[in-house]
Amino acid sequence: MIMLQLFLLLFSFNLQICLGDNEKTEGKMDTNYMNQQAYKSLFAAKRREHIETAEKILHLNDYAKQYKMVEILGETIFPAMKDSKEKLEKANYIPQSSPFPTDKNMQEALGVVLESIPFFGDVLLRLPDITKDVYKRHKKDWVPLFKWGMEFCQNSTFLFTGHHSTQLYLMSQEIGLIPEDPEYENPFRKSSEDPDIKIKLKTKSKKFKKGPKLRTRNEL
Ligand SMILES: *[C@@H]1O[C@H](CO)[C@@H](O)[C@H](O)[C@H]1NC(C)=O
Repeated sequence: MIMLQLFLLLFSFNLQICLGDNEKTEGKMDTNYMNQQAYKSLFAAKRREHIETAEKILHLNDYAKQYKMVEILGETIFPAMKDSKEKLEKANYIPQSSPFPTDKNMQEALGVVLESIPFFGDVLLRLPDITKDVYKRHKKDWVPLFKWGMEFCQNSTFLFTGHHSTQLYLMSQEIGLIPEDPEYENPFRKSSEDPDIKIKLKTKSKKFKKGPKLRTRNEL
C-alpha cells in the first residue's frame, strides 16, 4: 500500500514536472521565435527608411551639409552602440546561439547594433569619401566599436543573409577591414573614373555565393 502511494506520488510528480517543463520550454521558444519573426519585419521596414535617409543625404549635393549630416549620424549611432554593447555583453548575449530576447530593454539594445551598422553602411557606401574622413577623425572611439558591430551583425545569421550580408561584405571592403576584391568598385568614390558607367559595385560571386551581386546604384 505504501509502495503504491509512493509510486503514484512519484509518478504524478514526474508527470507534473514533464508537463511543466514542456509547457515552459515550448512557450518560451514560441515567444522567442515570434519575437524574432516580428523583429525581422520591423528590420526590413527600418532598412528601407535608412536607405531613404542615406539617399536624401546623397542628394543634398552640398559637401558641407553632407559632411555635417554624416558626422551627426555617427555621433548618434556610435554612442548608442557603445551603450548597447555593454548591455548585451552584461547579459552574455551571443549572436550565434542566444535566443531572441523577450525583454524589451534587451530587444532594444540588440536592435541598436543590428540597425546602426547597416545604416552606417548605407551612408558609407553612398558617400565613401566623406564617411571615411569623418570615421578617421573619430577613429579612436569608432573603429573598435565598428569592428565589433560588424562581427556582431555577421554573427547574427538569422538576420544577415542575402543582400543584408552582401552589404556587410561591401562595407568591409570600403572601410578596409578586408582587402578589396579586384572587381570591387564603388562609383560614389571621388576617385572613381566614370560615375555614370552602368557597372557599379561588383562582387565576385565565387567569393560570395550567398548574396546577389550588386551591379547598379539602385541595388544598393
Ligand atoms: C563572432 O563569432 C566569432 C566566431 O565564433 C567570434 O570569435 C567572435 O567573438 C564573435 N563576435 C561577436 C561580436 O559576437
